[in-house]
Amino acid sequence: MISYGVVVHGGAGSSGELSEGCRAACEAAFRMLAAGNSALDAAVEAARLLEDDGRFNAGRGSVLRMDGETIEMDAAVADSTGKIGVVINIREVKNPVLVALAVTGTPHVALAGRGAEAFARSLGFAPYHDFSRKAGGRGGTSSDTIGADTIGVVALDRRGIFALATSTGGAAPMMVGRVGDTPMIGCGFYAGPGAAVAVTGLGEESIRKMLAKSVYDMIAGEMDALSACEKGIGLVAPGIKMGVIAISRRDWSAKASGPMAHCGMICEKAQ
Ligand code: GLY
Repeated sequence: MISYGVVVHGGAGSSGELSEGCRAACEAAFRMLAAGNSALDAAVEAARLLEDDGRFNAGRGSVLRMDGETIEMDAAVADSTGKIGVVINIREVKNPVLVALAVTGTPHVALAGRGAEAFARSLGFAPYHDFSRKAGGRGGTSSDTIGADTIGVVALDRRGIFALATSTGGAAPMMVGRVGDTPMIGCGFYAGPGAAVAVTGLGEESIRKMLAKSVYDMIAGEMDALSACEKGIGLVAPGIKMGVIAISRRDWSAKASGPMAHCGMICEKAQ
């Protein structure tokens, strides 16, 4: 059985060279969990580090939309106590995941577009413009990006609470205003009393399959996380890049239909 632990991914299609970035984020979250911090705070901190990294498609590293100039980002946080905070198509903030966390302190679950930005400014999040401004992985040139898509973190804390944080600059190519799975509960993320699940890959496919909830339900039905993630990837149409990470009370898993940088660290319960 797991006492506490965390799993981080760097996006469906992210190459091994990004693993060290995932490891650094994972270690930071793991240290927080070991010190007794909540799964939510640990997951958000790992996601913040990946947003700041610049090599992942989230935060600073978010890819451009089809107009070649717009960056719109999505992020979500949730835990198994029922906290949920989401931002959709937010612009000009450095850390969408921190704004999503702040949404959990409002009566709402999700804020989008200009309203989300106004909310961020009201809390002191400064306008941010220093993005890497990469063309999208699937639509841009190969030198623009190493193919990362979304970052995600799932965690279990010492109190037995599951939490997650996800963040993305979106898939590519994508129209201005398009929304993927990352901010959609049950599609890009899900947390409940049995597990936390985060999905990466083509949002349109993950939304159609409600992939995060599908994997969660398998784990809640007593399947181990490894098998559930494998079966989840099996639901995806052939040829589509997709990845799933999950942590349950028994095990954790990171599965993808192709490469996906990731890292997992757990502390087992003494028997
Ligand atoms: N998985 C990220 C997106 O499709 O937007």
